[in-house]
Amino acid sequence: MDAKNITMEKIVSLAKTRGFVFPGSDIYGGLANSWDYGPLGVELKNNIKQTWWKMFVQERLDMVGIDAALIMNPKVWEASGHVATFSDPLVECKTCHERYRADQIDLAAPCAKCGNKGTFTEPASFNLMMKTWLGPKEDASAVAYFRPETAQAMFVDFPNVLTSSRKRVPFGMAQIGKAFRNEITPGNFIFRTREFEQMEIEYFVHPSDWEKYFEDWLANMYKFMDRVGIDASRSHNLEVEKDELAHYSKRTVDIEFDYPFGRKELYGLAYRTDFDLTTHAKHSGSNIVYTDPITNEKYVPHVIEPSFGVDRTVLAVLLSAYDEETVASEEGDGDTRVVLRFKKEIAPIKIAILPLSKKEELSNVARPIAEGLAKHWRVDYDETQSIGKRYRRQDEIGTPYCVTVDFDSLEDKAVTIRDRDTMKQERVPIAELEAWFKKQF
Ligand code: GAP
Repeated sequence: MDAKNITMEKIVSLAKTRGFVFPGSDIYGGLANSWDYGPLGVELKNNIKQTWWKMFVQERLDMVGIDAALIMNPKVWEASGHVATFSDPLVECKTCHERYRADQIDLAAPCAKCGNKGTFTEPASFNLMMKTWLGPKEDASAVAYFRPETAQAMFVDFPNVLTSSRKRVPFGMAQIGKAFRNEITPGNFIFRTREFEQMEIEYFVHPSDWEKYFEDWLANMYKFMDRVGIDASRSHNLEVEKDELAHYSKRTVDIEFDYPFGRKELYGLAYRTDFDLTTHAKHSGSNIVYTDPITNEKYVPHVIEPSFGVDRTVLAVLLSAYDEETVASEEGDGDTRVVLRFKKEIAPIKIAILPLSKKEELSNVARPIAEGLAKHWRVDYDETQSIGKRYRRQDEIGTPYCVTVDFDSLEDKAVTIRDRDTMKQERVPIAELEAWFKKQF
């Protein structure tokens, strides 16, 4: 299907009706731009995170993971520069008081809400840090921040990780977790929210090696995208202009994706130099200098940071997987089917067990099959509606295989496996099912 015909309406509606993502606090009328991951969404998101962790932590001897506290000492955010500079330019319409990001609208155009022209205030810096108070006092001494990125904990924990893991540079730290930003204009479904999840890596290198590792990580990011099924033809590199670089970066490449609402950032890759380790050494008074155990050279490692948004990954994966096709087979010849062509590793449900009827003699065979396979893979069990409708439902949620248990199964002790993409069917003995699926996953 041509990507141009995939609209956000289709994705948002499918996500809601099938239980991937729905509006947060829905029965209370929702909370603007907050989204909850439903039964399928949480499986999809977990599969994405597990794939990332497997690829970048488990399979690599030069990587270790951490899981740090979400609220850190506020001095961390003063040292990192976030309290002073983590802001977006804000303008307000003087007539209706709607607020906008000054860099995202045409200030000479009329206000999108009330239509009045020339009414915007001068741009002012709006800090995106999400503030709270720790403990019973709500005064300046109790102010703390929800982290706006997972990155900083990896710099702050660098000395503890280095001594406990005994890693030698080059090595990296990885973390997956929530981040919070008081975005001025959240929107576009799960693309920009105030609460979101990141998967970040801080890769520590010798200062003279940064260019080589920058290229390595850019290639690794594309390998990950391929593994989770993000369409490479809709992904592009954007070399961020020098005057638009974040305060900590000497070079940034954004990987952008063609969403239905335009080409926008999916991931970022930054060369953070020794900015973070140096600033934390200065502000904390700790000595953060690395001594190479073989050469005895002392230096502050430089950092390459590949940063991945989990929610944007979910969105790009859904958009890449979405397909509509006209069926040209006995399975509803001429019908249009919606199919999410997820990579098998990522599909929320791997196998659906579909007894042809609700009759007990069939469920007596089908249930034990489902329970046995569920020990290895996420399985769905569905015995209502016609088999055609059940196939369509599984196509719409991207289940790679459906297993149909029919009345012949009682005699031949075999079932029919139907492939999501080809719709081809194959008869497989029940005794061989587990081995058959082990070959597929
Ligand atoms: N540590 C660097 C850092 O946080 P960033 O470009 O601000 O860099 C990294 O964020 C990634 O986090 C983005 O590429 C995007 O995938 C995701 N992200 C950032 N802000 C987001 C938001 N408000 N909602 C959803 N995802 C967001």
